[in-house]
Amino acid sequence: MSLLPTAELHLHIEGTLEPELILALAERNGIELPYANLEDLRAQYQFTDLQSFLNLYYENMAVLQTEQDFADMTRAYLRRAAAAGVRHAEVMMDPQAHLSRGITLETCVNGVASALATSEEQFGVSTELIAAFLRDEPAEEALAVLENLLAMDAPIIGIGLDSAEVGNPPRDFVALYERAHAAGLKCIAHAGEEGPPEYIREALDLLKVARIDHGIRCLEDENLVERLVEDQTPLTVCPLSNVRLRTVDTLTDHPLPQMLERGLNVSVNSDDPAYFGGYMDENFNQLQGTFAFDANQLAQLARNSVRSAFITDARRRELL
Ligand code: HPA
Ligand code: ZN
Repeated sequence: MSLLPTAELHLHIEGTLEPELILALAERNGIELPYANLEDLRAQYQFTDLQSFLNLYYENMAVLQTEQDFADMTRAYLRRAAAAGVRHAEVMMDPQAHLSRGITLETCVNGVASALATSEEQFGVSTELIAAFLRDEPAEEALAVLENLLAMDAPIIGIGLDSAEVGNPPRDFVALYERAHAAGLKCIAHAGEEGPPEYIREALDLLKVARIDHGIRCLEDENLVERLVEDQTPLTVCPLSNVRLRTVDTLTDHPLPQMLERGLNVSVNSDDPAYFGGYMDENFNQLQGTFAFDANQLAQLARNSVRSAFITDARRRELL
């Protein structure tokens, strides 16, 4: 299958840290990992739910110590994404996951941003950076970190909300999102991955987000589906992630075809590709192998990603 030019809208840069790079950075930084070798590390990548993945995801971040480490991780993603047909990437990062380990905002933000800055020239991939906040940590902490990002004039285009969803509803983060809107930032949030449709409504009504990350549980609420179709709210769906985190049993059971059929604005994204078995191309390959989408459906998925991106109309025209 030829590669579709796409925009990747749902991607956690820390989730692109491949096992080989984890071991290399551990060596470079003199960090002891609880794994003897690559095989031992790879054996950990079996998840039962979101939390079981998050435990390993946060643990592996210990190897990210210097700006260079963050830049190397980011550059490796961009190279791989370009090979997967990605032409524009909106990259989330989790500043709190680094601050809590004693890594400064400057180190993590500048490291990621320095690789993004040369991406268009180096890989032909335009980029934006989004700061995601951890919903299982206090909302006051998130707001303080946002203030610090604004004070340092961090090159972020927007904010997101991620980590353990159930029990950590969007309504707890109203002040954070009000501040972000006031600062002119784009606003997105994970909702309806493991959490109920009500969380998608809260993200829309209370946080006033422009896109929903995942959103697949909207299908449990017919009124909500109708609203999302009417407004063409982008839902950044991550098929391989949903399978690996057991949100769906198998790819065959994934609701993406149904979502497309209903006229929802769905795109395909890789989420944490180093953990979930594939980048953009592999997501499309497996979807194609499972659902045999026709050319129109494939083009619709690619077009949805471009029309939902935070880019200028001129850039959109280049990509459509
Ligand atoms: N869901 C929620 N939080 C996350 C994810 C995810 O898939 N990846 C990294 N943080
Ligand atoms: Zn995600």
